[in-house]
Amino acid sequence: MVNFSEHYFFLNQLPFKQRTIRSFVKRDSRLTKSQLYALENYWALHGIDYDTSELNIEKLFSRKAPLILDIGVGTGDTTLHHAMAHPENNYLAIEVHRPGIGHLLNQIETHKLSNIKIINHDVIDVLNNQIPNNSISQIFIFFPDPWPKKKHHKRRLINTSLITLLINSMTQHGRLHIATDWEDYALHIQDAFTENDGLMNLAGKKQSSPRPNWRIKTRFELRGLRLEHQVWDFCYALNNIPKK
Ligand SMILES: C[S@@+](CC[C@H](N)C(=O)[O-])C[C@H]1O[C@@H](n2cnc3c(N)ncnc32)[C@H](O)[C@@H]1O
Repeated sequence: MVNFSEHYFFLNQLPFKQRTIRSFVKRDSRLTKSQLYALENYWALHGIDYDTSELNIEKLFSRKAPLILDIGVGTGDTTLHHAMAHPENNYLAIEVHRPGIGHLLNQIETHKLSNIKIINHDVIDVLNNQIPNNSISQIFIFFPDPWPKKKHHKRRLINTSLITLLINSMTQHGRLHIATDWEDYALHIQDAFTENDGLMNLAGKKQSSPRPNWRIKTRFELRGLRLEHQVWDFCYALNNIPKK
């Protein structure tokens, strides 16, 4: 006969694998013919395969230049626009969904750009493993998935552990720009950043910033505006204190 109390005790001792909560759901999204063509033909030119070793950024772009990290780029329109306007900068675009990456690869080829590289992976792993400390001049997180239901708030990308990773990745005069059209996400962002004194809100504690004139309206912002949502911009700079 099974001794249940003993069995239960044994199960409690098992080192069970922790479930990672991701800020996205892997969808088997359909690729258009041109996105598939781009992934098959241009990934080798502009893509970086995810692995756990640190990147040599200078070697990657064959030059030394300020590095901008765009997190969750969607179709990459903001990255593209910024990279075309600022050929003097290097851009690293991070996205988990392949159709958007296919779209961006096509745009990079059309415009013959050499200052954008793409990583198709969860930014948390990328920041933990691939991005060197003190290497990023500017970070964009525009319209992160809102996960509006309360039970899903734990999936939101912006939280205290992401903030620590961002701080470690930023250069001394680095800037972090965020935009959202979800009021309770905006309030959550204000609170999360108040908890960490490594970054300073440039508009003042818990304040939002004016919309930067260089931030283009992507389809995610336009959708928010159609729903009559307000849009909140935030801008943070590294505080001049030693990093933890
Ligand atoms: C709402 S879209 C915004 C796209 C773009 N930033 C814009 O402003 O139009 C959010 C994007 O973040 C991506 N994303 C969510 N979590 C991510 C993660 N952990 N790593 C990389 N990308 C992520 C999603 O796949 C999605 O494309």
